[in-house]
Amino acid sequence: MDKSKNNIPEPERRAFLKGAGLSVAALMVGGLSLERYAVPKDRSVPVMDNFPLAILEDPSGTPITVSDVEKYAASTTTKTSPILVFNYPLQDEPTFLLALKGVKITTPKTSPSSGFGAVSAGSNAPMDGIIYDSTHNISIIALSGICQHLGCVPPFLDYHPGQNVPFESELIGYKLNGTGATKWPDYGLIYCKCHGSQFNPVWGGRNLYNNGPAASPANHSLPQILLATDSSNHIYAYGINSSNAVIRTHLKYPGGETYGSQVKSEDLTGGTSVVKSSRSTPTTLTYFKGTSPISSGPSTLGVNQVSNSVVLYKTTVVSNSGPWKGTF
Ligand code: FES
Repeated sequence: MDKSKNNIPEPERRAFLKGAGLSVAALMVGGLSLERYAVPKDRSVPVMDNFPLAILEDPSGTPITVSDVEKYAASTTTKTSPILVFNYPLQDEPTFLLALKGVKITTPKTSPSSGFGAVSAGSNAPMDGIIYDSTHNISIIALSGICQHLGCVPPFLDYHPGQNVPFESELIGYKLNGTGATKWPDYGLIYCKCHGSQFNPVWGGRNLYNNGPAASPANHSLPQILLATDSSNHIYAYGINSSNAVIRTHLKYPGGETYGSQVKSEDLTGGTSVVKSSRSTPTTLTYFKGTSPISSGPSTLGVNQVSNSVVLYKTTVVSNSGPWKGTF
């Protein structure tokens, strides 16, 4: 398949997201289903064979590093935090890039079928596919920015850190110094202003939050995008954590499975491929999987390949404030 023809100029991508945002606003008034506006109409046309390996770049085309992102890490005392967003796995699919200081995001001990329990860090290994900087105790995690209720995207779906309870959340009963169910979580929530779904990023890939004063209308977590680094600490996205949840618009299996090994081999249908990079594919990538970091060639990741060579894509990180200002 010739994937290059699927590349889309940046302005068109922005137009799509902007259009989705306007549609959401209109539908909030009208009370209609949002999904047909948030999901491209050309679903069912495969544009990629597998998840792409994509290097994260700033809008000028410079790869961003772990320390670039760590400058904007949110802690329990943070009042405002820029929204960092990149598109993955497709060009029209926003993903949050979050850095959280003072917490190690770990693999939950509970299975999806037994509910979404709070994660106890203890000595657990970092969750697969996050970047954990033990020197500064910062976790960097990427989570889909497509609300798993009806598909609202940033800025309607937004991360509000520990010292920032949005007005909409106060309306349902959250308080900064609340107790029990009214307590705003220490690291805040990814909160959807469309209908009030809540996702706790500290819970990693199993982040659906129903412990507050009102339950989330979404019925599963924001999918976790897997991250890796190269020897220069540049950041790459390479897949979706199949043990958690898949982006709801990718469901194509009978019964609409949202977890499990079948997610790994899903083809990506509809939408538009991210853009191919002209950079060299890194020879070695390091990523967290299991109890310790693994370093290997990208071909072992099962990412997009043509004729047994890994194809490197790129994706641009933009923010609403802070670095890499852009529209989303
Ligand atoms: S789209 Fe309904 S809560 Fe997010």
